[in-house]
Amino acid sequence: MDGNGRWATARHLPRVAGHSRGVDAVRHAIEACGRRGVQYLTLFAFSSENWTRPQDEVSTLMRLFVNALEKEVDKLNESGVRLRVVGEMNAFDAGLQALIVDAQRRTAANDRLNLTVCASYGGRWDITQAVRALLREDPTLGAHPERIDEKLLASHLALAFAPEPDLLIRTGGERRVSNFLLWQLAYSELYFSDLLWPDFDATALDAALAWFATRERRFGRTSAQVALAG
Ligand code: IPE
Ligand code: MG
Repeated sequence: MDGNGRWATARHLPRVAGHSRGVDAVRHAIEACGRRGVQYLTLFAFSSENWTRPQDEVSTLMRLFVNALEKEVDKLNESGVRLRVVGEMNAFDAGLQALIVDAQRRTAANDRLNLTVCASYGGRWDITQAVRALLREDPTLGAHPERIDEKLLASHLALAFAPEPDLLIRTGGERRVSNFLLWQLAYSELYFSDLLWPDFDATALDAALAWFATRERRFGRTSAQVALAG
């Protein structure tokens, strides 16, 4: 979800106004995905690297996060949304951590839409924490590295509960992954929109989904093999 700052700057508003409109766009995106039967929606809200932004912008983003958790979780619950927050939780203050734990607990029985908010998240962080978790669980692995395979490592990633994404949408005109789901994006279709995140609406989502529907997904096979498999 990129482009909040530019959205605000273009209107001679402070960047925080863009982040606040970004939250509105998140609400609309969740509703639109729910209506379209999307089962997993994973939002990149705040990266490991975003901690290096100016202190006042970081605290504004944290305040918006707290506000959203305080105000939106009831509605998410009523809509059958299961919320998970994935990332380095220890970086958040205790109050925010408690809100996250509570929101996850309250929505845990829902299964209409699995909404994951990646916050204080980086793909490199995730792979690193998975390796640590593996070795913590079985310290003998170090002496038998051949026992580590892709499936075992993947099962320790923070997003192990979710399938790998079919479609990645990045707004804001940049063509890069910026440390998002590095492991899981191996075969995702990548869609880049020049719209700034606050302008990304249901029409824009439909354009992305229509583009996705034209893609042939081969997963390393040939086109003929895919046609044969049906
Ligand atoms: C939102 O957009 C992404 C967040 C980290 C919340 P930006 O804040 O990166 O907006 P631009 O790229 O400066 O326009
Ligand atoms: Mg940006």
